[in-house]
Amino acid sequence: SRPQRIAANRASLAVRCEGFTTQVKRNENIGKLAAGYLFPEINRIKGEHLAKNPDAEIISLGIGDTTEPIPDVISKAMSEASLGLSTPEGYSGYGAEAGQMPLREKLAETFYPGMIEGKQLFVSDGSKCDISRLQMMFGNSVSVAVQDPSYPAYVDTSVMMGMTGEFDASNTQYKNIAYMPCLPENNFFPDLANTPRTDIVFFCSPNNPTGASATKAQLEELVAFCKKNGSILVYDAAYSIYIENEDCPKTIYEIEGAKEVAIETASFSKMAGFTGVRLGWTVVPAELKYSDGWPVFNDFNRVMGTCFNGASNVVQAGGLACLSDEGMAAMYELVAFYKENATMLKKCFDDLGFKTYGGVDAPYVWVSFEGRPSWECFTEILEKTDIVTTPGVGFGPAGDGFVRVSAFGRRENVITAIGRFQKAFAK
Ligand code: MLT
Repeated sequence: SRPQRIAANRASLAVRCEGFTTQVKRNENIGKLAAGYLFPEINRIKGEHLAKNPDAEIISLGIGDTTEPIPDVISKAMSEASLGLSTPEGYSGYGAEAGQMPLREKLAETFYPGMIEGKQLFVSDGSKCDISRLQMMFGNSVSVAVQDPSYPAYVDTSVMMGMTGEFDASNTQYKNIAYMPCLPENNFFPDLANTPRTDIVFFCSPNNPTGASATKAQLEELVAFCKKNGSILVYDAAYSIYIENEDCPKTIYEIEGAKEVAIETASFSKMAGFTGVRLGWTVVPAELKYSDGWPVFNDFNRVMGTCFNGASNVVQAGGLACLSDEGMAAMYELVAFYKENATMLKKCFDDLGFKTYGGVDAPYVWVSFEGRPSWECFTEILEKTDIVTTPGVGFGPAGDGFVRVSAFGRRENVITAIGRFQKAFAK
């Protein structure tokens, strides 16, 4: 159970708490975090399972980590850039903190044609890092809303920054965060009419973990909601390349007026296999302003200049190669591969009689266990099949009763996993 896991965590830490102490007071906001970050926590449980079952052939469909090799056209560009560093002509030191202009322009032209210019876009080492830097920029006096369930980094960084109150064990929510339930009953789109105003609204589409992607009409409602409330929308489009539903926009800037309220963050991780390489970007339109009229862009530029020295020059060469015709074709092939995994996994659970969501416009299948506690389901799956998934409640209280199955995996592992699921859950 959750309290037992928290206690186990604390107990293992207690050993390390003995001995000499400094006079430095611990950051009390970090102390508010009720558990370790979700994925390392799952890794710890996987390690315990392996210690108990040393022969287990674990398959991980837990963290959404890419498994397929980076297409040649992309890795060659990185390798050339890397070798170039050994020559006077190819050497470069610090680059622009916001990234190389040709890459920024190519990103704008590829993903935001006629909507966003390259100079409004910051290239970075990934969306997760940008989310933390955005939070640093917002400061701790803002209020925050998140989809429930949602990618844990939004809530955890809000807690670390001091934007929230204590964790409330009675409803497993942090105080002062507006949780917007996204459930099958509301088509995974929040009931905005009953959502309180907050300064910042985090929204991810296609959603991690539910796999739901918002339609144009829903995003128009979201932008209108933020505009009415004078809120800033942080729109996470890390999985947008997976969208196939033509009613679902691939960027928030397809919505009229979005530039006045929305920051968008996106990533090469899930489309080019860059989870280890690290490259992403964030768009801060010139039209987005604070209440005193100050452009948010200026402050993010200041934060990036102070906290970041630019993405690796070698990796940016890879990013540019991703956006060449050949690179784009290779990325779409990779995405199609993971989407096929998703189709196979979704079908497996559907055939077993589970209700499933997502898995079409996103690389995650959201499997309903009809209200059973998701840690219990996660443990049952792990014990019966040696397969690591992700318990839905790890993404927020409304995720309880669900398990997320990631479609990032080698094909042979996905096929083996399906066989194991069928054996363990046949009715
Ligand atoms: C996930 O599994 O939710 C993601 O891989 C985590 C991430 O992108 O940081």
